[in-house]
Amino acid sequence: MRVSELLTFGLLQAAASIASPQEARNKKVTPSKRPNHAIAPHHPSKPLPSSPDRTKTCIIQAKGNGTDDSAAILKAIKDCNNGGHVVFPKDQKFTIGTALDLTFLNHIDLDIQGTIQFTNNTDYWQKNAFYQTFQNATTFFQLGGNDVNVYGGGTLDGNGQAWYDLYAKDIYILRPILFGAIGLKGGRIEDLKFRYSPQWYTLVANSSDVVFSNIDIAGGSVSKNPAKNTDGWDTYRSDNIVIQNSHIDNGDDCVSFKPNSSNIVVQNLWCNGSHGISVGSLGQYVGEVDIVENIYVYNISMSNASDGARIKVWPGAASALSGDLQGGGGSGAVKNITFDTMVLSNVDYAIEITQCYGQKNITLCNQFPSNLTISDISIRNFKGTTSKKYQPLIGYLVCSSPKVCSDISIENIDVKSPKGTNLYTCGSIEGIEKQVNCTVGGTKGGNSRRGVELW
Ligand SMILES: *[C@@H]1O[C@H](CO)[C@@H](O)[C@H](O)[C@H]1NC(C)=O
Ligand SMILES: *[C@@H]1O[C@H](CO)[C@@H](O)[C@H](O)[C@H]1NC(C)=O
Ligand SMILES: *[C@@H]1O[C@H](CO)[C@@H](O)[C@H](O)[C@H]1NC(C)=O
Ligand SMILES: *[C@@H]1O[C@H](CO)[C@@H](O)[C@H](O)[C@H]1NC(C)=O
Ligand SMILES: *[C@@H]1O[C@H](CO)[C@@H](O)[C@H](O)[C@H]1NC(C)=O
Ligand SMILES: *[C@@H]1O[C@H](CO)[C@@H](O)[C@H](O)[C@H]1NC(C)=O
Ligand SMILES: *[C@@H]1O[C@H](CO)[C@@H](O)[C@H](O)[C@H]1NC(C)=O
Ligand SMILES: *[C@@H]1O[C@H](CO)[C@@H](O)[C@H](O)[C@H]1NC(C)=O
Ligand SMILES: *[C@@H]1O[C@H](CO)[C@@H](O)[C@H](O)[C@H]1NC(C)=O
Ligand SMILES: *[C@@H]1O[C@H](CO)[C@@H](O)[C@H](O)[C@H]1NC(C)=O
Ligand SMILES: *[C@@H]1O[C@H](CO)[C@@H](O)[C@H](O)[C@H]1NC(C)=O
Ligand SMILES: *[C@@H]1O[C@H](CO)[C@@H](O)[C@H](O)[C@H]1NC(C)=O
Repeated sequence: MRVSELLTFGLLQAAASIASPQEARNKKVTPSKRPNHAIAPHHPSKPLPSSPDRTKTCIIQAKGNGTDDSAAILKAIKDCNNGGHVVFPKDQKFTIGTALDLTFLNHIDLDIQGTIQFTNNTDYWQKNAFYQTFQNATTFFQLGGNDVNVYGGGTLDGNGQAWYDLYAKDIYILRPILFGAIGLKGGRIEDLKFRYSPQWYTLVANSSDVVFSNIDIAGGSVSKNPAKNTDGWDTYRSDNIVIQNSHIDNGDDCVSFKPNSSNIVVQNLWCNGSHGISVGSLGQYVGEVDIVENIYVYNISMSNASDGARIKVWPGAASALSGDLQGGGGSGAVKNITFDTMVLSNVDYAIEITQCYGQKNITLCNQFPSNLTISDISIRNFKGTTSKKYQPLIGYLVCSSPKVCSDISIENIDVKSPKGTNLYTCGSIEGIEKQVNCTVGGTKGGNSRRGVELW
């Protein structure tokens, strides 16, 4: 062998020993720095646990072409659990076609720089998505455990079109939720894009001490079948949660507080096309006790929506809003809720409080008052204009009995309809006529104005 040949051979060998093709690609991958956005201006009710630095890195490579990456993803997450950092490199498109149970996580960061798309195999997901019982919700994956951070600037794509079209044919199909935080204790979900969820974008259940910051939500249908029930966030059986600094373009609740949501701060959101920031619906199930308390909603921009601030409670008697949405008769309490600072544009009702949810017959609703009380509510500092839909009305404040609604304060609401009016439908709330301009005649209007919505 000549010297030059020896040299080439040596170099080739050296190259092979430092890097397999995969390692060479991985060398170009830069793990993201953990963002840790400030939580401001309002702070979580309780201090958040600290999250130690991670000491190990695992990098996943997408197979490409829609091939299921689930096995490799699960392996990398297991390899880097207990103190590691898993990178989904940017410019790569990952596919998940298998339901992943990630409730075993412990001290781990998931750095999603690329795109993760879920398959649209509706038969598979209906059989295998994680069933969460409450409202028949299912999730593509369930992410839980202790101290989990997810960030990286990448995208989770629910590939929803097949679901929107299938739901138009059959409202009883179970459409997975894009992001399931289930039993997550301590975590930050930041700097991500959520796209085309089959229904709700995020379910936060059995979780505590979790922050969502800088999440960008968008996606709709390209067919004649709309993307329905695409709530931004639903919290359930969860405590000490922050949702902030996010941009939501959707078609149902921007954020919704479901049963047993407590100590939640929602701030600095831009919501377009939604059904507002909602407490409820609550009291749907006989024999269940639903509590929503200590909620602070601050600085929301709300446009092209059905509502700004909303509290929706089922009456004491059974009611049906639609085939897949029935209930009433449950008990519980909504207390200590603040909606402070909202700018509205083209919103049907600036404020809506109902204890007759799902019940079109107000006489019947008043005959069987809700078993769920509403108290200590402050709604203040709103400005802007409503849509033409209910003008001259700009709001709807109807309880089922003054006995179950108290301490409702509505102040500094500078909102007008396009015609310049500021009237509300009022019913069964003591002293409400001293706070807002009620229409003469009290409890007119009803609840029959909307189609199916979850829930
Ligand atoms: C993906 O599919 C294209 C076209 O079918 C093919 O040319 C390419 O090699 C495939 N890539 C991979 C990574 O399989
Ligand atoms: C939450 O925890 C309860 C009690 O352990 C359990 O029954 C339920 O399935 C869990 N998940 C959800 C979504 O409620
Ligand atoms: C779940 O779906 C079943 C079957 O479609 C329906 O009968 C039931 O009322 C739903 N349950 C809830 C809690 O919505
Ligand atoms: C299913 O997803 C694939 C991959 O994104 C896409 O090419 C296809 O058009 C989708 N099918 C439907 C019916 O949406
Ligand atoms: C209110 O939220 C917007 C984002 O929608 C943000 O730009 C603005 O700084 C926030 N204002 C305050 C006082 O926090
Ligand atoms: C806001 O929502 C409206 C109607 O829902 C939609 O037409 C519009 O494109 C959305 N705007 C943005 C900036 O997303
Ligand atoms: C909510 O909390 C109440 C009071 O602690 C409890 O009785 C009820 O079972 C809880 N409901 C759910 C859905 O977890
Ligand atoms: C009411 O809720 C706020 C959070 O919005 C909390 O700071 C305050 O302590 C709560 N008040 C009571 C009496 O629990
Ligand atoms: C509201 O919807 C209209 C028309 O659909 C759109 O032009 C406008 O930009 C939307 N507002 C926002 C803030 O997106
Ligand atoms: C509404 O409920 C009342 C009281 O139960 C009943 O008398 C009336 O017939 C109901 N009206 C309609 C339109 O069903
Ligand atoms: C719910 O309210 C109805 C009518 O107001 C009453 O008959 C029923 O006993 C109540 N149920 C509970 C569990 O409080
Ligand atoms: C009721 O309407 C009158 C006339 O527009 C207005 O001066 C007054 O401020 C309104 N009251 C409230 C509480 O908005």
